[in-house]
Amino acid sequence: MRTITLIKGDGIGPEITDAVIKIINASGIAIDWDIQKAGADIIETEGSPLPKRVIDSVKKNKVALKSPVTTPIGKGFRSVNVQLRKELDLYANLRPCYNLPNIKTRYDKVDIVVVRENTEDLYAGIERQIDENTAESIKRITRGASERIAKFAFDYAVNNNRKEVCVVTKANICKLSDGLFLESARKIASLYPQIAFREILVDNCCMQLVQNPNQFDVLLLPNLYGDIVSDLCAGLVGGLGIAQGANIGTDYAVFEPVHGSAPDIAGQDKANPTAMLMSAIEMLNYIGENEAAQKIKLALFETLNAGIKTADLGGSASCSTFTQAIIDRLAILTKV
Ligand code: NAI
Repeated sequence: MRTITLIKGDGIGPEITDAVIKIINASGIAIDWDIQKAGADIIETEGSPLPKRVIDSVKKNKVALKSPVTTPIGKGFRSVNVQLRKELDLYANLRPCYNLPNIKTRYDKVDIVVVRENTEDLYAGIERQIDENTAESIKRITRGASERIAKFAFDYAVNNNRKEVCVVTKANICKLSDGLFLESARKIASLYPQIAFREILVDNCCMQLVQNPNQFDVLLLPNLYGDIVSDLCAGLVGGLGIAQGANIGTDYAVFEPVHGSAPDIAGQDKANPTAMLMSAIEMLNYIGENEAAQKIKLALFETLNAGIKTADLGGSASCSTFTQAIIDRLAILTKV
C-alpha cells in the first residue's frame, strides 16, 4: 500500500481534508495516510509550526497532500507553506485553471496553466526594519532558479500539448531582478522552437486576463506575481473554492489547493472541498492511480452537473452534503 503524507492544516483545512479522504476511500483505492499536523496549534507543544517530523515524513514518502495553514498577517511566524516549499526545494508551483461543468462564469473555455517560481523573489523573507518609519524587503532573483522554472514551464508545455508560454514580469521597472527572470526565460525559450514564446508586463497581463482570458495558454511568473495572478485566474473560472495546485520539485511533490484557511467560514460545514479534491486528483495521477483519479473527477463533474453546489458557487449544499453526493455517484461508477 502506498504511504502518503497528509498535512491537515487549520481553518477549513480539517473539514475539506476529511471530505477528500472519504471520497478517495470510496473510490476503492487504499492509501496509508501518514497524518502530520502543522501550524499555529502545535507551536506551544512542539516549539515550531513546522516541526522536522513533517519535513522528514514528506522526504520519506516523497508525496504529500496538504490543506491550508494560517499565516499571521503583519507579524508572527514565517509561513509554513513558504517554509515547506523552501525546505523541500519544491521549485515549481503549478496551478491549472479551467472551467468546470455547470459553473456559470463570465468566460467559457478558459484553460490557463500558471507556472509560478516557488523558492525566491520577495518570498525569500529577507526583510528589515531600517527605522521606525522605514522597512524594506529584498526581491531576490537568481539565474539558476529562473532558468529552472522556465525549463519546467516549457517541458510542461511540450508534455501537455500546449502551444505557448508567456513570461510575465515588470522588467521595465525592476530592470535587474525581473530583467534576469525575463532574460532566463528568453534563453530557455530559444531551446524550444516548437513552443511559441510571448512576453508581457504583469499590469497589462492582469487587464488582458480580465478582458480576454482565452488568449493565454501557459503563464510563467516569478513568485509574487504568480501568487496574485493565480488567484485572479481562479476568479475567472468560479473562485478559490475550485482552484487546484501542486508544488513540485526534483524529488518531492506536495499537492494543495490555491486557497487559504478561510477563517471566515471555518467550522461551519460551508467550505467547498473541490479545490482540495482537484489537487488530490492530480496527486493520484502523479502516483499512477489514473483510473481512480478519472472516476473521482467524473463523480465530481456529475455532481456539479446535477446542480449540487456549495454556497461559494451559488448553491445551497453544505460541505458534507456535497461530499456525500460525490460518494453516491462514485459508488455507482465503481460498480460498473
Ligand atoms: P483565503 O483563500 O483563505 O480566503 C479568501 C476568500 O475565499 C474567503 O472569503 C474564503 O471564505 C473564500 N474561500 C477560500 N477557500 C474556500 C473554499 N474552499 N470554499 C469556499 N470559500 C472559500 O484567503 P485569506 O482570507 O486571504 O487567507 C486566510 C489565511 O490563509 C491567511 O492566514 C493566509 O496566510 C492563509 N493562506 C494559506 C495558504 C496555504 O496554506 N497554502 C494559501 C493562501 C493563504
